[in-house]
Amino acid sequence: MFTSQGPSLRELAVQALSSTEHGYDLLAPKFDHTPFRTPERILDACAEALRPLGPFTAGLDVCCGTGAGVQVLRTMCREHVTGVDFSAGMLAEARAALTPGAGAGGTGPVVDWVRADARALPFTEGFDVAVSFGAFGHFLPAERPGLFGQVHRALRPGGLFAFPIGAPQPLTSPWYWAMLGFDGAMRARNLLWRPRFVMYYRTFALAGVRADLERAGFTVRLRPLEEFGRRDDGSPHWRLVVARKPAAHEA
Ligand SMILES: C[S@@+](CC[C@H](N)C(=O)[O-])C[C@H]1O[C@@H](n2cnc3c(N)ncnc32)[C@H](O)[C@@H]1O
Repeated sequence: MFTSQGPSLRELAVQALSSTEHGYDLLAPKFDHTPFRTPERILDACAEALRPLGPFTAGLDVCCGTGAGVQVLRTMCREHVTGVDFSAGMLAEARAALTPGAGAGGTGPVVDWVRADARALPFTEGFDVAVSFGAFGHFLPAERPGLFGQVHRALRPGGLFAFPIGAPQPLTSPWYWAMLGFDGAMRARNLLWRPRFVMYYRTFALAGVRADLERAGFTVRLRPLEEFGRRDDGSPHWRLVVARKPAAHEA
């Protein structure tokens, strides 16, 4: 899963004993060589599903890391794309890789990077689309309503908040047990060690997520990402959640 350019076991251990924010600062230079970066296949599928709902004027990538979602938004936003993350290290990598003039070409929307905690976003009605990839495991379920409320406030009326969500693994899958084991180890670590590193795989189930989005004021639609196939019960392995903030006349 890790290439030779990725972090060593020792580096991962030091990262995991840090706070979430500092852990990412440490990991940042090697992050794109880890499986934690959202794979291109997921990004492409989400872009395909989201593009027909645009074009958009201004987009926000929440917990942008090294810029996976910014990369998607640049293809569908006309004027502006903002990546927001609380790790200065991750933002530095994103800036170096994706700012026009640093290898990303000079055309397309203006891209900027903001260091902020997603639980206290410094934006009000600035965007008509927001995305987030691979970061929800860093928020405890109790923090979710606040997080979704922040994104809701950052969006203009009629704006969309979109993110992929995977179906739960069946009990027969080795991934089910791997994730259960990982979350158990993280809970033990966070009981015994400070600062906390918050990262859980099994806390972001669709039913609760949908209810929290609706409570924050969104209407929710689900779009199957058919490229990832379907489970035995016919439900999609992956979906794009598209949460819409009502337009002014609907509110
Ligand atoms: C697994 S990485 C995902 C990065 C990128 N979105 C991707 O898909 O490759 C998670 C990111 O979330 C950021 N993050 C976690 N908690 C955060 C918070 N409360 N506020 C802002 N950023 C946060 C981390 O700094 C990290 O860059």
